[in-house]
Amino acid sequence: MRVLVSAASRHGATTEMARVIGGALAEAGLEAEVLAPDDVKTLGEYAAVILGSGVYVGHWMDPATDLVERFAAELAARPVWLFSSGPIGDPPKPEEDAVDVAEIVAATGAREHRLFAGKVDRATLGLGEKVILKAVRVPEGDYRPWDEVRAWAREIANALKAS
Ligand SMILES: Cc1cc2nc3c(=O)[nH]c(=O)nc-3n(C[C@H](O)[C@H](O)[C@H](O)COP(=O)(O)O)c2cc1C
Repeated sequence: MRVLVSAASRHGATTEMARVIGGALAEAGLEAEVLAPDDVKTLGEYAAVILGSGVYVGHWMDPATDLVERFAAELAARPVWLFSSGPIGDPPKPEEDAVDVAEIVAATGAREHRLFAGKVDRATLGLGEKVILKAVRVPEGDYRPWDEVRAWAREIANALKAS
């Protein structure tokens, strides 16, 4: 069974999560392909799709929402799981309304949307991003919960193998 794992990422944190998800699916015996959203030309060959995005000011990035628009009918016809990499810190910031994905969940008929903590490295940010970061009160650091991410991928693999 072939599964597409695709993630929109500005600074690489979410791409790394997509790769870890792909690795966990492969360990569970599925064929996982990890592609950037812009490199996805067809969904025909995939039995299921896992789609993610880094969160910027409460929203998914354009490459991920564009993929949802381009393949709305195909996504609605297959099992889809969504994930976001967003909040940073302990406690995680922002605490509320980290990401608005209601429309994307509805459009894809996703089985689940999982919000994971993310990573911000100020050294990689432009001036505009630093200003926005301050405004949305997001600190910096790498808070990605790798065990949780792998466990989620295993849950998905089990659901697909049972179906
Ligand atoms: C300018 C800026 C705005 C952000 N806004 C949010 C936000 O609104 N909600 C959130 O949960 N995380 C927010 N974050 C955190 C990032 O989404 C998070 O660090 C993510 O892991 C980055 O993924 P990427 O490296 O794949 O782009 C923001 C980060 C930056 C730099």
